[in-house]
Amino acid sequence: MENLKEQAGVRAAQYVTDGMTVGLGTGSTAYYFVQELGRRLKEEGLQIKAVTTSSRTSKQARELGIPLLDIDEVESIDLTVDGADEVDKDFNGIKGGGGALLMEKVVALPSQHYIWVVDETKLVNQLGAFKLPVEVVRYGAKQVFRRFEKAGYRPSLRLQDGQPYLTDMQNFIIDLDLKAIPDPEALALELDQMVGVVEHGLFNGLVDTVIVAGQTGLQILEKNK
Ligand code: 5RP
Repeated sequence: MENLKEQAGVRAAQYVTDGMTVGLGTGSTAYYFVQELGRRLKEEGLQIKAVTTSSRTSKQARELGIPLLDIDEVESIDLTVDGADEVDKDFNGIKGGGGALLMEKVVALPSQHYIWVVDETKLVNQLGAFKLPVEVVRYGAKQVFRRFEKAGYRPSLRLQDGQPYLTDMQNFIIDLDLKAIPDPEALALELDQMVGVVEHGLFNGLVDTVIVAGQTGLQILEKNK
């Protein structure tokens, strides 16, 4: 599996060219993309600037000597490469397994080209088997939790070392065990409108290219092609 992730990450790095501002995703697959960029910087003299989607990725990028910009210093991002937890055939997906969904979405939106790197186990017919992460403000988090319970969304507060998991933005994450999401658009709208919800892990139609690593090789899925 690690090898598949590495293949996808390294392939995605081929989209990066000199002068680009690049968005660096988070997670165990995006990790390999960032490593490969670090290698190209060192060995090929690749010239890029980057924005990151988590403190973890910032640390990795700094260690590799990748020059970083603050998200508010950039008007647009040429290309962002990130991982995903599930992807359906309409290029909708779930992200946030690693807890970075808010920063990941903020970086995805101004990206001209947005690529996901996944292994083939992430491709699904319908989203929802993976628990949908929802980032909520800490104030009144239990109120939001109860609303999810009433809606039948089977919420659980994400924990780390027995304590509520804190995102880079100092919020909590509630994971929804939905089993199936028949209408991702409608659910996204509902969550967007809920007071206390900062962001959710539904990334509907944002990605334009998905690099899928499987046992038989790499597959590149492109939207509208
Ligand atoms: C982090 C994410 C990750 O990109 C997603 O969880 C996929 O991670 P991995 O490549 O480790 O499976 O959304 O918030």
